[in-house]
Amino acid sequence: MKLMKVMVVVGTRPEIIKMSPVIKVLAQEGIPFIFVHSGQHYSKELDGIFFQHFNLPKPHYRLNVGSGSHAEQTSRILLGMERVLSRESCDIVLVQGDTNTVLGASLAASKLNIPIGHVEAGLRSGDMTMPEEQNRKVADCLSTLLFAPTPRSVSILTNEGADPKKIFLTGNTIVDALLQCDAKISPRRGFLKSTIGSDEPYLLLTLHRPTNVDYRSRLQSIMEGMRGIKKQLNMPILWPIHPRSLKNFERFGLNSNVVRLIEPIGYLEFIGLLKYSELVLTDSGGVQEEACVLKVPCVTLRENTERPETLEVGSNMLAGTEPDRISNAVVTMINRPRDWTNPFGDGNAGRRIVNILLNWNRGD
Ligand code: UD1
Ligand code: UDP
Repeated sequence: MKLMKVMVVVGTRPEIIKMSPVIKVLAQEGIPFIFVHSGQHYSKELDGIFFQHFNLPKPHYRLNVGSGSHAEQTSRILLGMERVLSRESCDIVLVQGDTNTVLGASLAASKLNIPIGHVEAGLRSGDMTMPEEQNRKVADCLSTLLFAPTPRSVSILTNEGADPKKIFLTGNTIVDALLQCDAKISPRRGFLKSTIGSDEPYLLLTLHRPTNVDYRSRLQSIMEGMRGIKKQLNMPILWPIHPRSLKNFERFGLNSNVVRLIEPIGYLEFIGLLKYSELVLTDSGGVQEEACVLKVPCVTLRENTERPETLEVGSNMLAGTEPDRISNAVVTMINRPRDWTNPFGDGNAGRRIVNILLNWNRGD
């Protein structure tokens, strides 16, 4: 049967970024699609600025689920998606990544027997306490098409027993988004002067995982680590702070003199700051990938990663949250030659995904 209509679902900052290359190709090919935004992220700096940057169309449906506990958020997405899916007949629902939006949308589609295509399938941290690990496993399990970004994610899916006919090696759409953005970034000095007012060397920090920012002792320990690094390297540490982290930072009464807090920033600004930084410290999934592609050393403030390809190629090191371990990892990584290779693809993942959809036979 010929592909007729696609539903594309997003809900958070990384989903908007990583789905945009797919949306771009769908639009180029004139493939009709219904665009749904769950509203999991709603603040302009986590949502609207990315719609502007990627020139995305207005969603046909906004579920406006907002923030809440996992159960509240997921159930609102489930109900909202059921309503939308019942109104719109579509051949496949595309979800991206591992958020509650992905979980709710996948469950709703699956209950209505509507096929699901999972973009960024087959990632595993091995840590089932992470909400994202739970979400991505469920989504993979329910999906008809699994768009795996790397050979490792293909193997993970195969070893878990997924039908090899459902699995496609596509590369990660982050490379598409990143390369298109990188081409627009101005040279270092001008970019830094206009973005942060100085072109002195600096480090970049991003943190938002609940295990790191929802507990005073953990966040305090990370800040101690930052103090040590700042003393050792004498460089400012810029932190475009996620609202979850800001809320906790203020609630715990932590001192910000060791880091320079800034608002979450748009994609061009963030990628520019990442590209020109000496090193990035992060617990983000997407930032580990982007640092690897841009050849910026990365220290991940976690005990595990669902992007082990970055550890294998040598672009990233796991440092947990103990101050001494963080400092040691920073010194190791900042001195490491930046000669690793990019395991995440060539920037044509969006095109590959759409080609697979166009050739997909629903009877398979
Ligand atoms: C979510 C995803 C996480 C992803 C991250 C990307 C889940 C379980 N988590 O985490 O996988 O890495 O998005 O950033 O799906 N808030 C705002 N404005 C917003 C959205 C949130 O101020 O637009 C604040 C609210 O106080 C909210 C908190 O941030 O309670 C957390 O938001 P939520 O979407 O629940 O989780 P994230 O930590 O953003
Ligand atoms: N990002 C951004 N502005 C910021 C911080 C991050 O544009 O101030 C981008 C970053 O380039 C990456 C994505 O947001 O593509 C990562 O989002 P996040 O860390 O929130 O989610 P995760 O990738 O961990 O799911």
